[in-house]
Amino acid sequence: MKWEELDTYAKQWTKEAGERIRSSFSTTLDITTKSSPNDLVTNMDRDIEKFFIEKIREHFPQHKIFGEEGFGDTLNDLNGVVWIIDPIDGTMNFIHQQRNFAISVGIYENGIGQIGIIYDVVHDELYYARKGQGAYINGEPVPKLKETNISEAIVGLNAIWATENKRIDYTKIVPLVQDVRGTRSYGSAALELVYVATGRIDAYISMRLAPWDFAAGIILVQELGGIATNIEGKELNLMEKSSVFVAKPHLHQQILSNYLLK
Ligand code: IPD
Ligand code: CA
Ligand code: CA
Repeated sequence: MKWEELDTYAKQWTKEAGERIRSSFSTTLDITTKSSPNDLVTNMDRDIEKFFIEKIREHFPQHKIFGEEGFGDTLNDLNGVVWIIDPIDGTMNFIHQQRNFAISVGIYENGIGQIGIIYDVVHDELYYARKGQGAYINGEPVPKLKETNISEAIVGLNAIWATENKRIDYTKIVPLVQDVRGTRSYGSAALELVYVATGRIDAYISMRLAPWDFAAGIILVQELGGIATNIEGKELNLMEKSSVFVAKPHLHQQILSNYLLK
């Protein structure tokens, strides 16, 4: 496998996809719903996924593609090279705000994350990590993470998890919200993972994400020394939906033992 070639193409296609999204701002979106009235999808989500699939099939026909909108392959395993793509992560923000969304592309080889790309389209910021070779924002290296205490931590968390819900006993989340310095919710898991990777927030917790939401982000977080697990502290499975909890190592262990597993 020529990873340099793959790298170059992956970044180039992601930037091109971003340009297409920026150009769509002046057009009228076709908006429909999927599993619920708040689960939105647009023609751009589908077009961007198709754009990646066309490029990958042309240049790397042996690779497999796992994309949110379902135009890729049906996967039974993660053998070989697999592209895990969320064409627009944060579609609700894309529709309502025309900002706070990202393109997320994770490239795995036999289940191991090799390349993570998250593109903040509106800010033209391309976050990129290659396993063992560091992480970069528009080509500038990102420093490794430094630890933060709970009392000084900003945690990415949707307010819904601090209310009664079917995924977690919310009484575990309330004291966490009270003890940390602050909480934030940006509405794009990919961006929230990037914010942990770059130290803008210190942890991110979601009770339910799909593999395309976190495939690229966890590569970036791990490359910078962060830990990525589910909320039980167990390894993430790239083939299924799960909870996701990322943080700096000591903070990860503190939040797990003092709150999530208490
Ligand atoms: C969503 C965003 C959101 C997260 C949802 C995801 P989408 O992705 O990442 O932050 O809370 O669970 O489904 O649908 O905009 O690609
Ligand atoms: Ca998503
Ligand atoms: Ca999406």
